[in-house]
Amino acid sequence: MRIGNLQLASNLLLAPMAGYCDLAFRLAVRPLGGLGLACTSLISSRGFIEGFRTSKHLMRTCPKDRPLCVQLHGPDAVVMSDAARLAVELGAAVIDINMGCPAGKVTRGNGGAAWLRRPGDAARMAETVVKSVDVPVTVKVRLGPDDEHIVAPELARRFAEVGVAALTVHGRTTAQRFSGKVHLERIAEAVSAAGEMPTIGNGDVKTPQDAVAMIERTGCAGVMIGRGALRDPWIFRDTDSFLRTGSVPPPPAIAERVALIRRHFDYVASMESEHRTCHMIRQRISWYAKKLGPCKRFKEQVRAVDSVMKFHQYVDEFLAEVD
Ligand SMILES: Cc1cc2nc3c(=O)[nH]c(=O)nc-3n(C[C@H](O)[C@H](O)[C@H](O)COP(=O)(O)O)c2cc1C
Repeated sequence: MRIGNLQLASNLLLAPMAGYCDLAFRLAVRPLGGLGLACTSLISSRGFIEGFRTSKHLMRTCPKDRPLCVQLHGPDAVVMSDAARLAVELGAAVIDINMGCPAGKVTRGNGGAAWLRRPGDAARMAETVVKSVDVPVTVKVRLGPDDEHIVAPELARRFAEVGVAALTVHGRTTAQRFSGKVHLERIAEAVSAAGEMPTIGNGDVKTPQDAVAMIERTGCAGVMIGRGALRDPWIFRDTDSFLRTGSVPPPPAIAERVALIRRHFDYVASMESEHRTCHMIRQRISWYAKKLGPCKRFKEQVRAVDSVMKFHQYVDEFLAEVD
C-alpha cells in the first residue's frame, strides 16, 4: 500500500490511541512484524508549537520508530500547518489530522469530531496542511456526528479533491462513541466516494479474519487496528500473513508474550520515572493478560506493582509457573 510517495511494508496500521500508542509501545510492537505504519496519539497542534511539555512528550520518537505518522488536532489551519512542519522536522513521514475525536476537551475547541459538522471547512483545513508540508497528509474521521448526519462519503470526495493522501474511517458516529457495532457498509460508501484516494477501514478488528471482512465488505485499501493490538501485538504479523498466504503463523509461546511485556516495560523504564513506569504497566496488564492463559495471580500482582524490582520478580515467578 502507498500513502502518497510512501510505500508501506504492509497495509496494516497501528491506530492512534491516547495514553497507549507512545514511543515505548511502538518500539515494542514494530519488531514483531506485519506493521505498515504506526501513529502517535493525538497531539495538540497549538501545544506542540508552543512547546508544552505534554505535546513534546507525545511527539517523542527515535530512528527505530519508523515510518511514523504524527496525528495532530486543533481548530486552526495555520497553527496546524506550523505544527505539521515541526513534526516533519522531527521525523514524521506522514501527518494525520484528527477529525474524529469525540472528547469534549477536543471538540469544545472546535477540533477533532467537531470538524464533521463543517465538511467544507474541514476540506479547506486539510488543503492548507497539504500545501504546507512535503510529506503525505492523511485525515482520520468517524462516519459523521450521528446517524442522521453521515458525512464520511462527502468528506472523502472533498479530501480527494484537495490532495489528501489517504483517509481513515472509523465506522462509528461521534454520538456512538465506542458503543454499538462498526458499520462496514457505511465505510464502503466512503471508500467508493474516495475514488483513487486510498481509504483505511477502522473499528473492531480483533483477528486476521476481522481484517479480511473489513477489506472484503468495504473495499478499503488498508486496515487500522487499535484495541486489538493492545490485547495481541502479534495481530499485525498474523494478519499480514493471513492476507498474503491465507494462513496464520503459530501463536507465540507464553514466554514470548511475557518477554514482550518485559521489553515494553523496560522501554518505558528507560524513558520515565519508576512511578510512571509502574503506572503504565498497571494500566496495561489487563490487556496483555487476555492472551496469557490462566494468570489471575500474576495479573493482580502487576495491577498493584509499585517498583521496577517487584515487577521483574513477579514476571520471574510467573515464568517459573508456566514453564
Ligand atoms: C484508549 C483509546 C485512545 C484513543 N485515542 C485516539 C487518538 O488519540 N486519536 C484518534 O484518532 N483515535 C483515537 N482512538 C480511536 C482509535 O484510533 C480507533 O479509531 C478506535 O479505537 C476503533 O478502532 P479499534 O476497534 O481497532 O480499537 C482511541 C481509542 C482508544 C480505545
